Amino acid sequence: MSDDAGTGLPGVVHVVATAADLADESASWLSRVSEEAREEHGFFAVALSGGSTPRRLHERLTGLPFVDAVAWAEWMVFFGDERAVPPDDPQSNYHMACESLLSRVPIIPERVHPMEAERVDRAAAAAEYAALLADTLPPGPGGAPRLHCTLLGLGENGHVASLFPGTPALEETRRWVVPGVADYAPFDRLTFTLPTINASEFVAILVSGGAKGDALRGVISGTVPAARVRPKDGTLLWFLDEEAAASMRR
Ligand code: 6PG
Repeated sequence: MSDDAGTGLPGVVHVVATAADLADESASWLSRVSEEAREEHGFFAVALSGGSTPRRLHERLTGLPFVDAVAWAEWMVFFGDERAVPPDDPQSNYHMACESLLSRVPIIPERVHPMEAERVDRAAAAAEYAALLADTLPPGPGGAPRLHCTLLGLGENGHVASLFPGTPALEETRRWVVPGVADYAPFDRLTFTLPTINASEFVAILVSGGAKGDALRGVISGTVPAARVRPKDGTLLWFLDEEAAASMRR
């Protein structure tokens, strides 16, 4: 039996009523997964995403019961992508994560690893981040470093992380982190590649609101970057609110 909630999306699909329910459901799931990883490995390695939907998840995690229940000190925090702006710029994914989560829970600062996408030599910054991942995490399927969980938002054009349609970053097969180019500002990015995302134990894609219908249909027809998110030895989960699920049917 399929567990796609009748959506046709690949993986396990959770459809909930509202954006607030989506934050709640994904926070419950993430706290469970982090606890399982802590029990099994002694730490939880997660890659955060930018975007407004992931932000609501972060904010929910800072409320009860999660703020007290999660073993924050065992979290190791990475980023799936970053924009080429300084870390204190409001457009920075790191800045967003600090404001909405990292500064509000007892995560150990040394265990938070921002991507230095603002560096002039972005290729070097990407290579250093890839080396950090490879030095910290065991290799997963395909040889890429294996995170316990990669969180992603979905762009209206079907991008995930900063893997934009028609860009070389999307076709990368040998490197774990590369410079990427977005189709809206800030254009320059650093991003996980598909091999890195697909080596994760869990990949969760959070989708809220009525604007993502084309992107979601593109996942089903295999025509957008998000369609290529298929964890090799892991689980793909989608968290949709009702508006997002309804937008697929229009
Ligand atoms: C970025 C993000 C990007 C984002 C999606 C969805 O840096 O821009 O990582 O991939 O997650 O564009 O964003 P929303 O949830 O705001 O629609």
